[in-house]
Amino acid sequence: MLAEGRFRVRLVTDTVGTSDAFVAVPYELHAQEGVGSVDPGAGAVSATADRDEGVRVALSDGTLGIGMAGYGFMGAAHSQGWRSAPAFFDLPAQVRMTAVAGRNQEAVSAAAAKWGWSRAETDWRALIDADDIDLIDVCTPGDSHVDIAIAALEAGKHVICEKPLANSVAEAERMADAARAAAERGVFAMVGFSYRRVPAVGLAKRLIEEGRLGRIRQVRAQYLQDWLADASAPMTWRLDKSLAGSGALGDIGAHAIDMTQYLTDSPITSVSGVLETFVTERPKLAERAGLSGRASDETGTVTVDDAALFTARFGDGALGQFEATRMATGRKNAFRFELSGERGAIAFDFEDMNVLWFYDATDPEETLGFQRILATEPSHPWVGAWWPTGHGLGYEHAFSHQIVDFVNDIAAGRPPRPSFDEGLQVQRVLAAIEESAANGSAWTTTEGIR
Ligand SMILES: NC(=O)c1ccc[n+]([C@@H]2O[C@H](COP(=O)([O-])OP(=O)(O)OC[C@H]3O[C@@H](n4cnc5c(N)ncnc54)[C@H](O)[C@@H]3O)[C@@H](O)[C@H]2O)c1
Repeated sequence: MLAEGRFRVRLVTDTVGTSDAFVAVPYELHAQEGVGSVDPGAGAVSATADRDEGVRVALSDGTLGIGMAGYGFMGAAHSQGWRSAPAFFDLPAQVRMTAVAGRNQEAVSAAAAKWGWSRAETDWRALIDADDIDLIDVCTPGDSHVDIAIAALEAGKHVICEKPLANSVAEAERMADAARAAAERGVFAMVGFSYRRVPAVGLAKRLIEEGRLGRIRQVRAQYLQDWLADASAPMTWRLDKSLAGSGALGDIGAHAIDMTQYLTDSPITSVSGVLETFVTERPKLAERAGLSGRASDETGTVTVDDAALFTARFGDGALGQFEATRMATGRKNAFRFELSGERGAIAFDFEDMNVLWFYDATDPEETLGFQRILATEPSHPWVGAWWPTGHGLGYEHAFSHQIVDFVNDIAAGRPPRPSFDEGLQVQRVLAAIEESAANGSAWTTTEGIR
């Protein structure tokens, strides 16, 4: 009988004695499903296997080799995460920063040296082919996510892929299919919606799960930046639909969509949206700096939205109001949300990221009011591993936390979140907003959208 699943295999070998290993490949079982003997392979004199669903360690030598594709903004943030996560958290595996891949030898070699990667590659396929790499970290623009993530999963490597998952629903569906198939073999995939791992956000999720807000009726979310408010700011890949998929909508609106679906634990089922491109021609990029850079004399055409506004209905009946823009003059990275429930409310603004505002409608009347919680207590999510109370965390810590959670999930054989299916759901919402905007803001359902 050929059985597929995860098994604890006990090997008795004549050279090293008895050892336990977890395997997640089809094994020829010579007994009833669950317990039996397996082909012991070279070097072993006998072997038995127990079905042990939910537990798998892919790390036969106790290490996890990482290969990262892309070394820009996210490459830097993820490198910081890979470096600091094992230094501050007890991880079940030793992380090896094995290789980083880009396209330019000189630049990728410099990035490897700067951020602590052992080697540099000029083609992401070299990461997939490498035997010493167990996990692929996708930090490239959206147009390459589908190819890299699927190749990695099919090669049996875990994947963390930056958001939005893909540039289209069709791509995201293929990725989610590949992730589901890989999970059957104990190979896992996660989307990099990093804001879920900000401690104040973790606390918000905890309060909601404890029922402190009661039924959530209304959701307000804004993601406001201003780095494109200057009409002479140059073109980058983020302004090219073929590379980015969409503009403010997918770049930052995707975070707001994921966050609110995650916190409410309810999918957005229909939307009415409007998209606007205020500046349609921009100078081409001469030299990159931060999200933007130095302009050249040539101009190019912007093919994505500068701003997205939409109204949404959630599956559980809540109503949502959203705004995503890179033209909100004076707002730098104001990712804000407020959820109003029948028993309480929460509010968050990333520009004050260590703080969560909480309103408990059951408080005595004379002390009713939003309370400002400094989410830096050791009991708050992830905080205990860092600094003493009141010594705030920053943007980069969420990247450490998503790595900590992912590595723990891999070792425990637990499917990580956000899953590729959750990334696909966000992609459907993005596509529905685009379709709605193209049809005079008509209400558009997210189910079945392509
Ligand atoms: N989680 C977050 O909050 C967050 C924040 C910013 C960006 N992102 C996402 O991260 C991804 C990367 O964005 P970024 O801001 O780091 O972009 P970036 O332009 O700073 O870096 C992109 C990197 O990818 C490399 N690259 C591009 N195409 C490649 C290819 N085919 N093969 C190998 N390398 C390639 C570039 O050389 C560069 O090193 C995007 O999907 C973006 O949406 C997520």
